[in-house]
Amino acid sequence: MQNAQKKRIAVLCSGSGSNLQALIDAEKENKFNGEICLVIASNPNAYALERAKQNNIQTAVFYLSTFATPELRDNAITNLLNLHNIDLVVLAGYLGILTPDFFANFTNPIINIHPSLLPKFGGAGMHGLAVHTAVINAKETHSGATVHYVDCGIDTGCIIAQDSLEILSTDTPEILQQRMLHQIEHPLLVKAVTQLCSE
Ligand code: GRF
Repeated sequence: MQNAQKKRIAVLCSGSGSNLQALIDAEKENKFNGEICLVIASNPNAYALERAKQNNIQTAVFYLSTFATPELRDNAITNLLNLHNIDLVVLAGYLGILTPDFFANFTNPIINIHPSLLPKFGGAGMHGLAVHTAVINAKETHSGATVHYVDCGIDTGCIIAQDSLEILSTDTPEILQQRMLHQIEHPLLVKAVTQLCSE
């Protein structure tokens, strides 16, 4: 294990990047045998880019509106991933839907973190506060997060890890979102990446 080559990781984000930060912190603490080599954002305002720059991680932005088609965007992204010899792609709050071209051109594992206990509360439109609002409206007693492999569907890939928390009477969608990120998502994503880096 000590001599195994570090996995080269790329993280794709669209927003704040708190899950990216959890991975950056875990890498600094040598929690996994990997190196975050590249952070790719779907828009130039993603705070995740700032987090990457503060940690001297190379960044790139692939803004969908600057490409004629989503396939052309994904070809550009996968070319960059392959140029950097990326072994593992982590979608951490990435809002783009990967096209079949992505999977055709990049054949190493791609994982995603989703803030619900899939298959519940997944699929089109289920991201951000919409997930937590739906969970509370459904009067669920528990919710959680899921790390799964990414396939051509939305939130449908094989599940790698899940963890859950109890929903409190004081939870609003905003409070639940923050509790989920800090109590469940960040450690769960680090655990899943640690597992994949050891394979
Ligand atoms: C997280 O809730 C993640 O599960 C979902 O998008 C959110 C990203 O949050 N896919 P952050 O940008 O990592 O703070």
